[in-house]
Amino acid sequence: MKDTIVIVWNYKREFMLSNKVILITGAAHRIGATTAKTLHAAGYNIVLHYRRSNSGAEALADELNILRENSVSLVQGDLHQTDRLPQLIEGAHATWGRLDGLINNASTFYPTPVEKITEESWDDLIGTNLKAPLFLTKAAAPYLREQQGSVVSIVDIHAERPLREHPVYSIAKAGLVMMTKSMAAELGPEIRVNGVAPGAILWPENEMDNATKERILDRTFLKRQGEAQNIADAVLFLLRDAHYTTGHILTVDGGRSLNS
Ligand SMILES: NC(=O)c1ccc[n+]([C@@H]2O[C@H](COP(=O)([O-])OP(=O)(O)OC[C@H]3O[C@@H](n4cnc5c(N)ncnc54)[C@H](OP(=O)(O)O)[C@@H]3O)[C@@H](O)[C@H]2O)c1
Repeated sequence: MKDTIVIVWNYKREFMLSNKVILITGAAHRIGATTAKTLHAAGYNIVLHYRRSNSGAEALADELNILRENSVSLVQGDLHQTDRLPQLIEGAHATWGRLDGLINNASTFYPTPVEKITEESWDDLIGTNLKAPLFLTKAAAPYLREQQGSVVSIVDIHAERPLREHPVYSIAKAGLVMMTKSMAAELGPEIRVNGVAPGAILWPENEMDNATKERILDRTFLKRQGEAQNIADAVLFLLRDAHYTTGHILTVDGGRSLNS
């Protein structure tokens, strides 16, 4: 499995050229899955990427294909395999013969206090959060250009303000913000490139104590956690409605990043 990036699910290869096609990375669960559901409900065909979560990805594809036949395909791959990313994009394009959007959602997130930073954690966090989005965007650009398409990357408010004990993640997301602005400059006028910066939406899957959660929410002006749907709605806006917006990062954080 580790060495392959393949389309593993194609349903009937019926072409639905009238429907725009969006590739979402890391879309089996959480924010990626909610984004897939939201874009699908808006009428897009979805190429749903996953790495290890094959059962979650297949269940989501089944659910959405019941709602609209032949509207979701799956593509599997480890985004660290940079040389295989063009193949992943080719696979996403091949399903319906077009690609209109790329959502860079896949990510790794964990602490790296300075004394514990390793080359491995650097390669992993930079790889998923920065390197893969850049090389996916590069590979997708010719197809996106044909469709006047769009890239949306999920960044983080901590691209601007460092998250304590997470320097490598913060560096990676800061790079992703600059990738977004640089690609907007490079790929216009045909392709728009934007980002969404979530605040506290879903708590990380690794442990976070309640005191930390309370402290985060206390610093959030809306005094509550956001929902995955808030991020999905922002992605849909940038993808479908924001025709004159490029190189922009849309913050969706309940006002938290305003709080010093
Ligand atoms: N959760 C929040 O509140 C929050 C806050 C700020 C920013 N964000 C950003 O929002 C996005 C979604 O967040 P999330 O918490 O929903 O994400 P997540 O659950 O932590 O990760 C999404 C997916 O990324 C995939 N992934 C990780 N490493 C990969 C690799 N090497 N190759 C391919 N796929 C890989 C995994 O796919 P498999 O499971 O298939 O392996 C995982 O399911 C991320 O970019 C995150 O940084 C989230």
